Amino acid sequence: MLKSVSVGRSIVAAFVKSSSAPLATRYRIATFTSMVTPKLIPFSEDFFFRQLFDTKSSTYTYLLADTETKEAVLIDPVVEHGKRDAQLIKDLGLTLKYAMNTHMHADHITGTGYLKQLLPGTLSVISEASGAKADRHLSDNEKVQFGRHQIEAVATPGHTNGCMSFIVHEQGLVFTGDALLIRGCGRTDFQEGNSRTLYNSVHDRIFSLPDNFQVYPAHDYRGQLASTVIEEKTYNPRLTKDIEAFVDIMENLNLPKPKMIDQAVPANRECGLYDIPADDK
Ligand SMILES: [Fe+2]
Repeated sequence: MLKSVSVGRSIVAAFVKSSSAPLATRYRIATFTSMVTPKLIPFSEDFFFRQLFDTKSSTYTYLLADTETKEAVLIDPVVEHGKRDAQLIKDLGLTLKYAMNTHMHADHITGTGYLKQLLPGTLSVISEASGAKADRHLSDNEKVQFGRHQIEAVATPGHTNGCMSFIVHEQGLVFTGDALLIRGCGRTDFQEGNSRTLYNSVHDRIFSLPDNFQVYPAHDYRGQLASTVIEEKTYNPRLTKDIEAFVDIMENLNLPKPKMIDQAVPANRECGLYDIPADDK
């Protein structure tokens, strides 16, 4: 038997009878929404965007640039890809103004220190609250300019104290670091992790953005490149729950310790400078 029931304005619940299942689980409930596909904000002609990937740590690095002034920023570069990133920036005729980190990573070493060597004049950037070394330290709502384009850095702590999300309002983009992942979120069981803080950060600072803003996280482990605010508000299996249920989920993940944490965190505290391969120095 298949029966459809309207719940609210947009949710339909389908009750599917399974005669072989025990009584308590005889009805499997699936929910679907009739959500309209989000209409994305088209990029300005003078805005350049490129997503890059590190297969070892499943980290995304993002290159943003002003195509008129040629000023560029790189978000969350990985040390092993310093030469790749520097070459791309040269190929495109860009000048790297800032090499930025959304937070002090535990799973890879940041490329910001190395990029400062490869592309002299580049400044490293991270939040003040991270406690890491950098040329520029950001506080909540601080703006980062490249050409005529602007990033607003907003504090989204919870995965670490110093986590920030970077918003490009005009282009409808938010770079969420490890605060919000596609259908997931960063873990809260090491560094200064706090699941209540993370829940409030995501709801107050990211889910409050326009529904059609694109979400670009620091990682994805399933091949997904991007999401949108409305998708995560609708489908994120953790953050659509209430705060108590979220805390319970996060406390029971039982994840292994990150393999790289003992090397990555001390290196990233020093802007990633201390672990550059000898032949690359
Ligand atoms: Fe992280």
